[in-house]
Amino acid sequence: MVRMNSLKRLFSIIFFLALMVSCKKIPVTQEAFYNYKADSLLKLMTLDEKVGQLNLLTSDWSVTGPSINKNYFNLIKEGKVGAIFNAYTVDYITRLQKAAVENTRLHIPLFFGYDVIHGHRTIFPIPLGQAASWDLDMIEQSERIAAVEASAEGINWTFAPMVDIARDPRWGRVSEGAGEDTWLGCRIAERRVKGFQGNDLSKPNTIIACVKHFAAYGAPQAGRDYNTVDISDRSLFEWYLPPYKAAVEAGAASAMTSFNEISGIPSTSNKWLINGLLRKQWGFKGFVVSDYTGIDELVPHGVAANLEHAAQLAINAGVDMDMQGETYQKNLIDLVNTGKVSLNTLNSAVKNILIAKYRLGLFDDPYRYCDKNREKTEIMTPGNLAFARKMVSKSCVLLKNENQTLPVNKNIKKIAVIGPLADSKVDMLGNWSAAGEWNQCVTLLEGVKNAVSVDTKVMYAKGCDVTSGKDSDIVKALSVAKDADYIILALGESGSMSGEASSRSNIGLPGNQLELARAISKIGKPFAVALFNGRPLAIPELDSISPAILETWFGGTQAGNGIADVLFGDVCPSGKLTMTFPRSVGQVPIFYNHKNTGRPFDASHPADKYKSRYIDVPNDPLYPFGFGLSYTHFTYSPISMEKSEYHPGEKINASVNIVNSGNYDGEEVVQLYVHALLGEVTRPVEELKGFKKIFLKKGEILNVNFILDPKDLGYYHSDMSFTTDKGEYELLIGTNSADTQKIKFIIR
Ligand code: NOJ
Repeated sequence: MVRMNSLKRLFSIIFFLALMVSCKKIPVTQEAFYNYKADSLLKLMTLDEKVGQLNLLTSDWSVTGPSINKNYFNLIKEGKVGAIFNAYTVDYITRLQKAAVENTRLHIPLFFGYDVIHGHRTIFPIPLGQAASWDLDMIEQSERIAAVEASAEGINWTFAPMVDIARDPRWGRVSEGAGEDTWLGCRIAERRVKGFQGNDLSKPNTIIACVKHFAAYGAPQAGRDYNTVDISDRSLFEWYLPPYKAAVEAGAASAMTSFNEISGIPSTSNKWLINGLLRKQWGFKGFVVSDYTGIDELVPHGVAANLEHAAQLAINAGVDMDMQGETYQKNLIDLVNTGKVSLNTLNSAVKNILIAKYRLGLFDDPYRYCDKNREKTEIMTPGNLAFARKMVSKSCVLLKNENQTLPVNKNIKKIAVIGPLADSKVDMLGNWSAAGEWNQCVTLLEGVKNAVSVDTKVMYAKGCDVTSGKDSDIVKALSVAKDADYIILALGESGSMSGEASSRSNIGLPGNQLELARAISKIGKPFAVALFNGRPLAIPELDSISPAILETWFGGTQAGNGIADVLFGDVCPSGKLTMTFPRSVGQVPIFYNHKNTGRPFDASHPADKYKSRYIDVPNDPLYPFGFGLSYTHFTYSPISMEKSEYHPGEKINASVNIVNSGNYDGEEVVQLYVHALLGEVTRPVEELKGFKKIFLKKGEILNVNFILDPKDLGYYHSDMSFTTDKGEYELLIGTNSADTQKIKFIIR
């Protein structure tokens, strides 16, 4: 018996040692494990099969670009497709996945992409609106919900977050981003990635994020979409690149190249940008996809002689996957056979795609995102809708409120809701509304009706269309308005006037809407404007004739309810603009963190001619970055700092006391800016470096404290080294970028 036991012990020791020896060969980290698996699979693949993995095709469910190949089912079966986008629902995705898994030799599953930009079925406010909430937790949560809903319908890859910094509201895609500020853009980018991907991509309710559009797509000349970007290295590194980097550091598992060129080289063929900066310098480990037919477009850009050349340039630059161009599909085999593309280059692109499929768990179960029960129970739940409603109210920005025109008293007898956006469900979705259904949206008119009691009569007149109108419709609207005690005027752009391919040269109110507003303003009744738009608008006249304006963006599924919550005072508005509203389109590009110039204009000496200014419009904007009013009032104490001199490496500490001195409980976004008084390179007049969103009951006081790392004050010097200067700084704290108080400190 004793002998038996020691024999057993001996065998277990031998077994354990053998296991250790064999374990030495098996990679230990998850990443290394997927790497190892992808390498093993790669060895089994033919050239044809490899190239197939790099082909991303759209289904014909949505059209998000200029071309479509209706034969995608057969191509999948032939192993010529690696992923599909613009397809959703468990049934459809199951059919597509079956076509791949059951017909191809190696049974490699597809993954499924979609533009889940501000919600999947439950649509939240457009990203520019969400950014105006300055509520990072809520922004992350909206992406979490979007990921849960999208993955419940088979999707495992979103083409988001879009993190392009934009300073030109003519560009329609400003609606998809976080606005003009780099620091805030970074914080929002990180949270969006986290929301989509969670902390474990192998969970069936997380999806791969795709940071886009790499890089500097938000700076097209003249604000015209797809136009040339011509940018200095300094601007690129200082203002445009950091949000992409922040998304990469937050773990974004894919990146999309932009349509534009940078320094004359299109992003999609830009080796320096993709293989150099993104992969080598930033350590990006995911896969890179082109934008829609972006590889083909290297031909009209004039850097590729033909499509074969385009494919060669793109893959050698580091683009792994070809969105919709089929240029890799048609040319890569020849390119490899003729040695213009090395097998190594092809293999590494394929490996990046395979690793993504391993990370998603698709090799364990290709149908793991096809769960009918999840599809039934996790989409548009009451919780998701309640969250969406809250997100709408948090995104609203109160731009003007004379004589407390807002909030509207719920006991008012007759309210007229007037305007082309008052009862338009489809416009509430905004652009890129994924699988959101317009007929499930709550309009402003419906939201107002839901908010008031049966004793309040709610009347409606359209007044005009968004872009056109007849005098007779304005007359009809006036007669409705005259009968009311209070008028809510719903004006702005249609949902499709912003987004991709929707640049405008005139960013005022379109059509006859200003005439409608003028007419309403003359009847002498209290009224408030609810503004719907996907970009900052130049609306100086509307501002001057309206007692109150509430910026509402495009709020999505729960738009009307969320806006009504603010209009009637159930929610105290707390949103702040993340993009400057100009007075005139001629001021564009206009942004708060501009340079001082050698001849700065001083408004207290308006007659000084030889200053940097316009002769027909003031320099300052209509509504500055960070601006947004509240129903209550916040009083700021002077800033106090622990000390005024710091040594390099020491944390900088500043605080203010804030009192809610108004009549409502409410939230405030306390903003911190910094200004370096001297630099080797000129510094902006101020730069956002922190904020705190606080809630104070009326009468309450709070000490708000900021701690800055001197690294936060660094910048790129003339040799492009990133360091913090010693010297004198101003620290500014306030309620928006144009209303701050300041204190000086020194870094010794
Ligand atoms: C083109 C757009 O630029 C990009 O943002 C989008 O993700 C793709 N089309 C796919 O729809």
